[in-house]
Amino acid sequence: MLESIKEDYILSNKKSWDEVAPRFFGRTALPIYGPFLPTENELNLFGDLSDKKVLEIGCGSGHSLKYMASHGASELWGIDLSNTQIETARDLLTDFKTKLNLFQGAMENNPGIPIKYFDIVYSIYAIGWTVDLRRTLQHLYSYLKPGGTFIFSWEHPLHNRIRQKGEQLVVDKSYHEEGLQQCEPWDKPAIMNQLKLSTYINELIQAGFQIEKVVEDVVIQEEINSGDPTVWYTYKKASLIPPAFIIKCTKNTEWSR
Ligand SMILES: C[S@@+](CC[C@H](N)C(=O)[O-])C[C@H]1O[C@@H](n2cnc3c(N)ncnc32)[C@H](O)[C@@H]1O
Repeated sequence: MLESIKEDYILSNKKSWDEVAPRFFGRTALPIYGPFLPTENELNLFGDLSDKKVLEIGCGSGHSLKYMASHGASELWGIDLSNTQIETARDLLTDFKTKLNLFQGAMENNPGIPIKYFDIVYSIYAIGWTVDLRRTLQHLYSYLKPGGTFIFSWEHPLHNRIRQKGEQLVVDKSYHEEGLQQCEPWDKPAIMNQLKLSTYINELIQAGFQIEKVVEDVVIQEEINSGDPTVWYTYKKASLIPPAFIIKCTKNTEWSR
């Protein structure tokens, strides 16, 4: 695909995110990974965060960076496409401004983030917004120190291919079909990559990562059993297919690029 088309998609996504950002204030942030997923309190994927230099990709309103600060991280870095999100995050993290570095920019590019610097790079429900996964993972890999950790969560690729129609779940789109397309529940231009789980895994391996863990588990609590089929993430669907997933991987120490 022509690079200029990707840049156009990034620009239109930025415009939409600037408008909708307030609706997403602290909505998907650590210790929460995403809908119906086990939380960090249960999974402990990050381990001890004391004195760790951390970078969040698609840092949104800054709530996950705040979580990092409250668990002892020494440096808080974040990148987000939306000016509105970056301004909100700056306000939220005002108590930590001496160790805070935020960039407004696209994860597909490096706006000046240091190379081989971070103990942890992570992304909570944002990575699927990339219009170029390969390029994005190459950057993320370069930011990590050898032996550093990359953890991300995103919507499970089955979730938007299977539709709830009343009591039935219907396969609406082929799992095999991949590519950039309009995000269905949005009423504004919102282009994202529809990929297979194997593509995420294979692109991580291609970038040089070693996969440590893949989480597709579902936690269903009584109080969120709404059963409302108009909601994008429903209890009914979550009880049959995973709505979201998490991958933890490390930068290989032996052949770090
Ligand atoms: C669902 S939100 C993630 C929210 C975040 N975890 C939080 O706690 O606020 C997705 C975020 O990805 C950002 N985003 C979308 N496309 C992006 C891109 N190409 N590069 C960087 N950030 C992007 C959006 O602006 C939005 O803040």
